[in-house]
This record gives sequence, structure tokens and C-alpha cells, in this order.
Amino acid sequence: MEYAAGGQARVAADAGRVGRELERPPLRAVRGWCPQQVGQTVGVDDLLIRPFEEADRVALVELWEHCSLTRPWNDPHRDIDRKLALGDRLLLVAVRSADLVGSVMAGYDGHRGWVNYLAVDPGQRRRGVATALIDAAVERLGELGCPKVNLQIRRANADAVRFYASLGFVEDDVISMGKRLVDDTVEPS
Ligand SMILES: CC(C)(COP(=O)(O)OP(=O)(O)OC[C@H]1O[C@@H](n2cnc3c(N)ncnc32)[C@H](O)[C@@H]1OP(=O)(O)O)[C@@H](O)C(=O)NCCC(=O)NCCS
Repeated sequence: MEYAAGGQARVAADAGRVGRELERPPLRAVRGWCPQQVGQTVGVDDLLIRPFEEADRVALVELWEHCSLTRPWNDPHRDIDRKLALGDRLLLVAVRSADLVGSVMAGYDGHRGWVNYLAVDPGQRRRGVATALIDAAVERLGELGCPKVNLQIRRANADAVRFYASLGFVEDDVISMGKRLVDDTVEPS
């Protein structure tokens, strides 16, 4: 990714992006995180996208709770710890004026990329924050060789459906199934 002087993000030729149209117009809120330059984040339009840092933890869990993404059977702190243990730096946060305003947790399993914990502070919505987060995550997944990004949306979450549809995501003809391996309601021994 390159950054032009005018503050618009440009994507270097192809860059392995998936799930999006490369011709899509520039973002309103521009990414500040370049995977090759972790630690040299670039803030544009006062919005910064960067990997999670430990100092973000309290604000991040508060954001998830505020956005109704937490569930009693899912310990968010354990989810953060599990993600950090993988070391892929794909838990991203959006920061504006030193406030944590958004997040996304992405991952690549060798077959599909996955996106979870996409959240934007209610006071910051419809300003392109989620778009910038998904762009950054998708770009990184593309660099890892990921051919397709999947995600799950709770059936009642029409806002999220409209959001992903606006980015070119389409509904797959699948049944989503799951099996719990760790009970987060039980303290680890
Ligand atoms: C879904 C969510 C992440 C969108 O964040 P956002 O920063 O407001 O999204 P953006 O500003 O990047 O939106 C981009 C486009 O998506 C569409 N969109 C986003 N939110 C929408 C909504 N509530 N209704 C209709 N379209 C919407 C619009 O086309 C929008 O472009 P526009 O503002 O120019 O019309 C945010 O509403 C949120 O945090 N919701 C609660 C948590 C959640 O449900 N997460 C997803 C779990 S699967």
C-alpha cells in the first residue's frame, strides 16, 4: 500500500486483494496500517488502523460489549489471549484522536480467511471506519495467499448484512455449524 501526499490511499498493483473490486473508489476514512510497515503506522484523516496492543485491551472489550458482540459463553479476554498466541497480528483496531473506535479480528486457516469482532463505536458509524478495517484485514489476508474471506452474521443483524453487501460480499448457500471445544464459563485450571 502506498500513501499519496493528498491523504488518499492507493493500492500497489494488484497486491493480492480478495473479495473486493480493485476499482472501488478511494476510502473516505483511509487506512493507516501498512502490513509491511508495522510499527510505522501512518495516520490519515485522523484515523489509524493498526494491530492490537496490550494497552488497548480494556477499551476493546468495552467496545465489544457496547456493540453487543460479547456473549456469556464467550470470554472476550480469552479470545484476545488466544488470538495473540497465534502471533499473526490480525487483531486490528481503529484509533481516532487517541480513542479506540473500531476493531476487527481476522485470520487465515490455509483455506479461507475469517473475519470476526467487527465493531465500530456507535458515535463513529457511517464514516468509513468499518470499511477501513475490512480493507486492511482483507489486504493482509490477500498477502497471506488467502483466496476467499468468510464471515458469519447473526440472522437479526440487518445492519451488518447491509454493510458487508456494500463491500461486495454475497450470501453463501451454506448452513453454519459449530462445536464448542472449550467452555469459557469454566475457569481454566
Ligand atoms: C456494521 C458496522 C461494523 C458498520 O460500521 P460503519 O463504520 O458504520 O460502516 P461504514 O461507515 O464503513 O459503512 C460503509 C457502508 O456500509 C453500509 N452500511 C453500514 N452501516 C449501515 C446501516 N446501519 N444500514 C445500512 N447500510 C449500512 C452503507 O452502504 C455504508 O456506506 P454509506 O455510509 O456511504 O451509506 C457497525 O454498524 C457496527 O459496529 N455494528 C455493531 C457490531 C456488528 O454488528 N458487527 C458485525 C458483526 S457480524
